[in-house]
Amino acid sequence: MRIEQPTDEALKEAAAAIRAGRLIGMPTETVYGVAADASNPEAVLATFEAKGRPAENPLIVHVASIEDARRLVSGFPAYALTLAEMYWPGPMTLVLPKGPQVPPETTAGLETVAVRVPDHPVALRLIAASGRPISAPSANRFMGLSPTSAEDIEPSVGDRLHMVLDGGRCRVGIESTVVDCTGDRPLVLRPGMAAIATEAAAPSDRRSPGMYPRHYSPRSPLRIVESLGARDAGITLKVPQNPLQIRLPSEPVAYASELYATLHLLDRCKPPEILVEAPPTSQDWAAIWDRLRKAQGS
Ligand code: TXA
Ligand code: MG
Repeated sequence: MRIEQPTDEALKEAAAAIRAGRLIGMPTETVYGVAADASNPEAVLATFEAKGRPAENPLIVHVASIEDARRLVSGFPAYALTLAEMYWPGPMTLVLPKGPQVPPETTAGLETVAVRVPDHPVALRLIAASGRPISAPSANRFMGLSPTSAEDIEPSVGDRLHMVLDGGRCRVGIESTVVDCTGDRPLVLRPGMAAIATEAAAPSDRRSPGMYPRHYSPRSPLRIVESLGARDAGITLKVPQNPLQIRLPSEPVAYASELYATLHLLDRCKPPEILVEAPPTSQDWAAIWDRLRKAQGS
């Protein structure tokens, strides 16, 4: 795996690689993604293969502006435009009716396409330099933990990438909020740190194909508990009792920003189990609870 600082030269090479149908490790403000030319079916199929991901799970297309997003969709409801204006660039993905420019491989055959404008200078520079809409699922093996630094990209995925652009630690730290904008009102398919006050998708309702009960998992089994015992490995909100306990901030934005990096770190120590002390249950922790429950497999 080749990790490069995002110099003008590296960006130019990465953009040429995207246009040539290759894959690039791209930093965003949420997590690192496997970037490809979203308009190139072969590049998109290579993305699925690199992740070991079933081809029925559609990709998010990353663009630089609302104008660019408009070119990929066949409709943009007023409420969705409001969301885009409020949150872009940022961790907010809008699912909209697909335009004919987007190949079916990118959307896994769906008539909708997920789009967002990432809030990361390196991602925006790569989009601009390549002149292509960029599909980017999280840069982990299917069901694995998303990387929030270049070093946390697993070699099995990293080795499929032409290069990884090093954009430092991801600020948000968990994946974007995904909002279905194809109905009368917005419906949250995947909660994220851009929290909007709408109903969440009920199981079997307008579902996202990527909503598997188990997801975002470290290799060691993860369990949510009331509190950690003196010998346990895991995440606490209190004073750690041994070196394999890591204290995370008791405020959700800072907690989310460090969560995956901490799980990657603990996972590398191969503990029999990773225990996570239950965080508060208030609404501002909802996206974190979503990821913890999925990591636990419940
Ligand atoms: O923060 C993020 O969203 C990161 C960064 C790299 O942008 N990307 C990411 O992509 O998390 P991925 O592929 O790991 O997750 C995308 C989610 C999946 O749950 C997928 O099913 C859903 O978005 N999705 C994509 N297109 C969709 C569509 N047309 N309709 C419904 N859900 C869709
Ligand atoms: Mg993912």
